[in-house]
Amino acid sequence: MQSYSPNSPEDLGYSFSPYAPARFPEAEMKKLVLQFRNTMEERRSVRKFSPDPIPKEVVLNAIRTAASAPSGANKQPWSFCLISNPEIKSEIKVRAEEEEYKSYHGRMNQQWLEDLKPIGTNHEKPFLENAPYLIVVFKKVFSTKGAKKEQNYYVNESVGIATGFLLSALHIAGLSTLTHTPSPMNFLCEILKRPENERPYLVIPVGYAHADNQVPDIQRKPLEEVLSEYD
Ligand SMILES: Cc1cc2nc3c(=O)[nH]c(=O)nc-3n(C[C@H](O)[C@H](O)[C@H](O)COP(=O)(O)O)c2cc1C
Repeated sequence: MQSYSPNSPEDLGYSFSPYAPARFPEAEMKKLVLQFRNTMEERRSVRKFSPDPIPKEVVLNAIRTAASAPSGANKQPWSFCLISNPEIKSEIKVRAEEEEYKSYHGRMNQQWLEDLKPIGTNHEKPFLENAPYLIVVFKKVFSTKGAKKEQNYYVNESVGIATGFLLSALHIAGLSTLTHTPSPMNFLCEILKRPENERPYLVIPVGYAHADNQVPDIQRKPLEEVLSEYD
């Protein structure tokens, strides 16, 4: 007997399409995931960028990739500002360094400063000027339809996943990034003249790594430490 639900999405006028993603033989699956893992494990945060220009189309496709991420109730609560304008980059650098100076000289506690020592960071942020592009990711704490405010759901989770897609896409294309959080970063709303529903989430300088770039020798936790299995 066919079940009948008077409130099924189809009855309410929403359409659905078949979706049957490719299935691979097991050996192929193992190869694909290992290839992806190897590529992703090569990603490192870069803080010294080459001034060489990068193809904008690559960055745009990475942002398109990010914008395809899953999100709570498909609200897509993100927006991306792509900045190459040197004056705007300089203004962001000046304002970020002001905040970061205060953070490194009083706002961060001793433990935080200790934890940052192996990373080698300080309040100076030359990459905000030197990287050919800055992507500032904003989260939308609510959406707007005309004058009407609409709720968004799981905003931090959604924007975090989209940012993961973004970093992955840029890395796969051979570009380097830094995940940067000048704190606090409300000055970005002012400089970029963002609407009232947007809050800065991350600043991502993008470019080629400088020939002299170095990264800290840090370790990843082994799988046993991060995985609990329940068979
Ligand atoms: C949410 C988040 C915020 C971060 N903020 C900063 C930052 O403000 N400045 C910085 O130099 N690195 C920042 N990082 C980069 C981390 O230091 C870096 O990811 C970590 O040390 C691991 O190194 P890796 O990215 O090279 O693997 C941040 C990373 C994340 C995920």
